[in-house]
Amino acid sequence: MLLLPKLEFRLQPSEAGFLDPSIAAGDRKNISLDPGATTCDATALEPGQAERLAAMMRRFSDQAMALVEGLAPPYVGHLERARTSFRPVEIAGRTYSPRHDDRRLHVDAFPTRPMRGRRILRVFSNIARDGAARDWRVGEPFAAFAEQFVPRVRRPFPGSAFVLQALSLTKGRRSGYDEIMLSLHDQAKLDEAYQADAPKTPVAFPAGATWLCFTDQVLHAALSGHSALEQTFHLPVEAMARPERSPLKVLEKMTGRVLA
Ligand code: SIN
Ligand code: FE
Repeated sequence: MLLLPKLEFRLQPSEAGFLDPSIAAGDRKNISLDPGATTCDATALEPGQAERLAAMMRRFSDQAMALVEGLAPPYVGHLERARTSFRPVEIAGRTYSPRHDDRRLHVDAFPTRPMRGRRILRVFSNIARDGAARDWRVGEPFAAFAEQFVPRVRRPFPGSAFVLQALSLTKGRRSGYDEIMLSLHDQAKLDEAYQADAPKTPVAFPAGATWLCFTDQVLHAALSGHSALEQTFHLPVEAMARPERSPLKVLEKMTGRVLA
C-alpha cells in the first residue's frame, strides 16, 4: 500500500456542494461513473448538476491515471481504466448485510465482474472538508490468508459459469480464479472468528491524502470516513514486475490447478 499523505485532490469552489451526502440517491453509498460516460448514476441531482459531478469525477480519474503511470511506467499501455466512484456517505453507523459490509476484512472480488486473474488496483483520495480521516484496518499477507480458506472453497456446478454469462448475470465468463476469489471474499466476511481474531493494523488516511493498493490482495476493512473518491484500474498479471506475487499465481501454486 502506498500512502501519499499530502497529495490532495482539489475541488473547484463550485464543486463544494457535491460533498453533501444527500446527493447519493436512496440508500446507495456510492455514485459511480463508467469510463467514457459523461453523466453519473444514483444521484439525487438535477441533470446539469450530475454532468458537473461527472466532470469532477473524470478529472479525478485522469489524475489517478497520471499518478499510477508516473509511479509505475511499465504499466503504461497495460492499465485498463474501470469505474470511478464517489463515496460521499459516512461509513460508520450504517447497516449492511455481512456480505456487503466493507467494515469487515476482505479482499475485493465482485460477483458480476469476472477478472480471470487480472489485478484490481485502486486509487483513493480523502476529500473530506471537515478533517475526518478515513479509517481502515489492513490484514495479514494474502498467502497466509488464502491458506486458511482455500481448503473450504466449494467447486461450482459444472456449466454454472456458462449459464451466468448466458443470462448476462456476469460481464464475461467466470474462471476458476473468480470462483475462488469470490469464495475468499465471502468466507472472510462471514467468519466471525476470523473477523475478531485475524491480525489487523489500523491505518488512518487523513483528509487531503491519496493512497493506492491492489485491493484484490491487501486484506482491508473501511471502518469510518466520508467523502472519498476512488478510481479502479485492471492490470494483466503479465504486466507486473513480479507476477508470482499476484493472487492468481499464489492460488495456482496452492491448488495445483490452472485457474484462468
Ligand atoms: C472497500 O473497498 O472495501 C471500501 C474502501 C473505502 O471505501 O474506503
Ligand atoms: Fe473492498
